[in-house]
Amino acid sequence: MTKDLLDMVEERIRVGVTTNEIDEWVHRETLSRGAVPAPLNYGRGQGRDGIPFPKSICTSLNEVICHGIPNNHALQNGDILNVDVTCDYLGFFGDASRMFIIGEVPERTRELVEVTRECLNLGIEQVRPNNQLGDIGHAIQKHAENQDFSVVRDFAGHGVGIEFHEAPQVLHYGEPGMGEVLRENMIFTIEPMINIGGYECEVLDDGWTAVTKDGTLSAQWEHTLLVTSSGVEVLTA
Ligand code: MF3
Ligand code: CO
Ligand code: CO
Repeated sequence: MTKDLLDMVEERIRVGVTTNEIDEWVHRETLSRGAVPAPLNYGRGQGRDGIPFPKSICTSLNEVICHGIPNNHALQNGDILNVDVTCDYLGFFGDASRMFIIGEVPERTRELVEVTRECLNLGIEQVRPNNQLGDIGHAIQKHAENQDFSVVRDFAGHGVGIEFHEAPQVLHYGEPGMGEVLRENMIFTIEPMINIGGYECEVLDDGWTAVTKDGTLSAQWEHTLLVTSSGVEVLTA
């Protein structure tokens, strides 16, 4: 379902669309499929004054790393936007996000978006029984840093089950052969956040929006994965 929703966004997104409009499209389509947008009212106690997340999706624009709140910003030529969709369908969660490039961007920006996608795929290639979480983190970190990008430390992938966020924490950096051993039937996300500049984060006054401290661009791609007997199934593909 997250795939169909992100495909819908991909078809409609263009210069002039606001992130609020994208939120409304996804909200409506999620409900019409009998699912619930999991971010809406998620995280009571976590935002400023304990206010939960107010929208149905996260829209993280340019220097926003993650958890951006949809608003009336109209997309402009040169923007890069992450749209992160999480559906609760009969108590099962799918969590996925993609980057969208609006119009023309500099070569290095395009590289950031592409390399981040490659990082996700390299992470997924490490998913199989008896591999370890550090194998995933290491594959991602190596690829990002080889291209002179940095890996965000303050946010991680996560287990997915009867709750939206569960153990384990899936770090996007690490050492091969370290960390929890992967077992058949585990479900978790990989969602690398990669920056052009430094990896340091800052959370804005709303208590949600995480931005790069140095104001440089950040990209993210996410899938939800199942460890199978022989390897991996991408549940959100
Ligand atoms: N979908 C995000 C993730 O990948 C989490 C969003 S939580 C919210 O984990 F409250 F910010 F919506
Ligand atoms: Co996630
Ligand atoms: Co997500």
